[in-house]
Amino acid sequence: APTLNVNFTLNQQPVSLDVAPNAVLLDVLREQLGLGGTKKGCDHGQCGACTVHVDGQAMNACLRLAAMCEGQHVTTVEGLSREGELHPVQQSFLACDAFQCGYCTPGQMMSATALLNDPRIGSDDAAVKEAMSGNICRCGAYKNILTAIQQARA
Ligand code: FES
Repeated sequence: APTLNVNFTLNQQPVSLDVAPNAVLLDVLREQLGLGGTKKGCDHGQCGACTVHVDGQAMNACLRLAAMCEGQHVTTVEGLSREGELHPVQQSFLACDAFQCGYCTPGQMMSATALLNDPRIGSDDAAVKEAMSGNICRCGAYKNILTAIQQARA
């Protein structure tokens, strides 16, 4: 099958790889690049488990063609911690028990970090809930997730 060469920055490192023209970023991350932190839930843009940052914006990696990431900056949950230090949002999720099974947690944290960096999104609970509405938690840990996000802001 024909492939396309794509070059982008992944967690601050340059990557160059050949992808199928129809390969989505989620599958390329998990299967070609060995990064399993980005989860596959619905594979249809409805659960948020696959959320990554593309040029700083939260995005569903299951909906994005990998070939469209040419020249972009992609960050996955593996790129949140720096030099062995957990990101404040990761620390806050831990401190607040903001998960039960944990499957949705990487996506939750990627949406949370994006919203905390977005000056267009208000800081009240309603604005945070709205910004997090694309991330489904089947265990229903929403209350602690909201607390964790608001504490990470503080
Ligand atoms: Fe991408 Fe559910 S796996 S939104």
